[in-house]
Amino acid sequence: MNKRVSAPSTDHNQSVTDQKSVVSPTSGNGIAIQIFPDSDLASRAAADEIAALIRSRASEQRCCVLGLATGSTPVRVYQELVRQHQDEGLSLENVITFNLDEYLPMAPDAQQSYVRFMQQNLFNHVDIPAQNIHIPDGTIATEDVPNYCRDYEDRIIRAGGIDLQLLGIGRTGHIGFNEPGSTADSITRMVTLDPVTRADAANDFGGIEKVPSHAITMGVRTILQSRRIRLLAFGDHKASIVQRTIEGEVSTDIPATYLQSHSDVQFLLDPDAAALTSPTAFANEL
Ligand code: F6R
Repeated sequence: MNKRVSAPSTDHNQSVTDQKSVVSPTSGNGIAIQIFPDSDLASRAAADEIAALIRSRASEQRCCVLGLATGSTPVRVYQELVRQHQDEGLSLENVITFNLDEYLPMAPDAQQSYVRFMQQNLFNHVDIPAQNIHIPDGTIATEDVPNYCRDYEDRIIRAGGIDLQLLGIGRTGHIGFNEPGSTADSITRMVTLDPVTRADAANDFGGIEKVPSHAITMGVRTILQSRRIRLLAFGDHKASIVQRTIEGEVSTDIPATYLQSHSDVQFLLDPDAAALTSPTAFANEL
């Protein structure tokens, strides 16, 4: 397996651009890795790339289609995009978004809803047109879910496909809510959440028994069809799954390993999340 790892930088006064070592494009056989001095700098780097893509598309009078994640990991990416909108005139008028997932059932105004999360962390603070926002609907009746999911896939295709997909990673190796057992050809669908994922969400819900057992998620194939994929992982609780995702065999047991087959995937890590990934990989690539 082919890994590409950028040099970790230790100078906190450098700009993000200076710190972001150039990572060669991969050719469908490896995950490019960048290790930043801390998660703030990694988040800024991700936001800068997204902002540059939005601006470049706007200059061509084209839309920019983003796949977005929720959870604790991308919060500072969204904060930085909001800051750039407020301070630097970044407009999201040409942006179309598709969120990865939503609990089922889930009311949009509930505390744990991903609709509410996205409004609070990004959409309420930028100029994205409301009709450009797509988040799986957690109020859909079970019998309507298959049609709803097909329509979600169609909307992504009609938008021109996802230009850049932002991802976090769960301790089960899930991307979106594609839990172990998800296949490479899976598309948007209803899934059963892994007990580990429900335990990780227990605090947000006030107890594991209150965490929904199901969700709607984009599929592995949906994610892999994105032109660029940027996965963020921070903290030592992600170190083991990051290492197994990068260094392990591609397996349905760890759906994130399917990312190894993508031609433009980068992991943006802090030192804690990168701590278990093989040091020989760094040595080889510096
Ligand atoms: C959320 C999502 C999940 C999270 C993952 C990590 O939309 O798709 O895959 O990215 O569960 O969550 P955090 O960032 O809270 O550790």
